[in-house]
Amino acid sequence: MSVVKINVLTVPAEMREELERRFSNRAGMVESADGFEWFELLRPVEGTERYLVYTRWRSEEDFQKWQQGQAFQRGHAQAAAAGQGQGQGQGHGHGQGPAATGSEVWTFEVAESTGPKA
Ligand code: HEM
Repeated sequence: MSVVKINVLTVPAEMREELERRFSNRAGMVESADGFEWFELLRPVEGTERYLVYTRWRSEEDFQKWQQGQAFQRGHAQAAAAGQGQGQGQGHGHGQGPAATGSEVWTFEVAESTGPKA
């Protein structure tokens, strides 16, 4: 049963464009992670102001292996650099400081799923 891990980002209105620009320049290493199934950056339109970094994994162990591995470190090198001195884990930053002012992780198990009829 797949596991969904969502990084929930609080992004001030004036930093939304910058956040999306940074993700469009992302490292692109997660694609080769063992057990990785899907990634989407979800832009809020209605009902919330928060961005969702949606990832799906074959198992919790696969996610943990990625989060503790090189690909996560390298995929987050810029964030870590931007976060220096501004409190770890705050946001997506390059030069302009972190783009997000808060993040939390939600975990789901895929109970039911389907795709378009073949
Ligand atoms: C402490 C919290 C976190 C911060 C500050 C953070 C920040 C970032 C930044 C800055 C990037 C790349 C874009 C860039 O280089 O600017 C990134 C990429 C990414 N983040 Fe996070 N992140 C965090 C935690 C997480 C977590 C928990 C997940 C999974 C649910 C996640 C999923 C991703 C994915 C999939 C990418 C793309 C990586 C790639 O392209 O290889 N992040 N994150």
